[in-house]
Amino acid sequence: MKPIYVLNGPNLNLLGVREPEIYGYDTLADIESRCAALLEDAGHSLVFRQSNHEGQLIDWIQEARTESAALIINPAGYSHTSVALLDALKALSVPIIECHLSNPQTREPFRHHSYVSLAAKGIIAGFGAFGYELAIRAALALLKPAG
Ligand code: DQA
Repeated sequence: MKPIYVLNGPNLNLLGVREPEIYGYDTLADIESRCAALLEDAGHSLVFRQSNHEGQLIDWIQEARTESAALIINPAGYSHTSVALLDALKALSVPIIECHLSNPQTREPFRHHSYVSLAAKGIIAGFGAFGYELAIRAALALLKPAG
């Protein structure tokens, strides 16, 4: 089985110190280890990455097209701006799950629209770091053979 990719966009490297009242005190490394443990229990492997650069994220999405079983992405600020990320995601046939720590719908109006959502099977938002675990569980459920 190919790994599950978890890609993280700009500023998520600062999780734990960046606006913790919105994003919580868990670091991205904390989240990565919880995702890895969850996947290990289920017999899957994890590719977990973060970049502040749109082009790098696009290169990883293209890599995930052939190398992943499913893609979980927190596009962060690029959710609301990036047609290029959407175009890259639309080339994938594996399940895509969009994940946000906060609930963008309850925040500033410019966060209410996500280009990425147009390519996502589903969206998990507002559950903080726990949302990544929910996203992993959703990916595993989608990968489980029907029956
Ligand atoms: C975010 C929400 C985005 O609006 C914001 O730009 C982020 C993080 C979240 O996880 O809640 O950087 O994607």
